[in-house]
Amino acid sequence: MVKMPPEVKETLEKQKPVPMATASKSATPNVVFIGLCKILDDETIMIADNFFYKTASNLAENPKVSLLCYSSESKKSFQIKGSVTVHKEGPQHQQMADWVHSINPKLPAKAAVIVKVEEIYNAMWGPSAGKKVV
Ligand SMILES: Cc1cc2nc3c(=O)[nH]c(=O)nc-3n(C[C@H](O)[C@H](O)[C@H](O)COP(=O)(O)O)c2cc1C
Repeated sequence: MVKMPPEVKETLEKQKPVPMATASKSATPNVVFIGLCKILDDETIMIADNFFYKTASNLAENPKVSLLCYSSESKKSFQIKGSVTVHKEGPQHQQMADWVHSINPKLPAKAAVIVKVEEIYNAMWGPSAGKKVV
């Protein structure tokens, strides 16, 4: 696990929606938009599964994700990669459901997808493109 530096957290918080990539066991990629994404601490991101379909089946087979963010103000962009655990009940599910329902009580709040951040890369164009941040 790694800690997200402040510039990464700021860029992710401003990214709406956040593109998130998963892959099946056979390595077929899939990208979705995430609107409900919350930083829990420097190493942890919570994502609400309201409508995941291919994403849910990919995560069951291969618990790896890549998130992408970009700020046109700061001209910073990062790829955040990590491993997830999926919680359909228990305290993490309750925390996600409370948060989601405070925004929209009609959302299904099926599962909390908890991302533990493992690697961060610079995704801005220029000489540092693709370089590991942490
Ligand atoms: C702007 C936007 C925000 C979205 N936010 C979420 C979200 O926070 N959670 C969620 O489960 N689906 C969200 N979706 C739906 C997913 O992007 C996607 O449609 C869904 O996961 C089904 O695709 P899949 O079969 O590839 O998983 C959002 C879609 C859009 C367009």
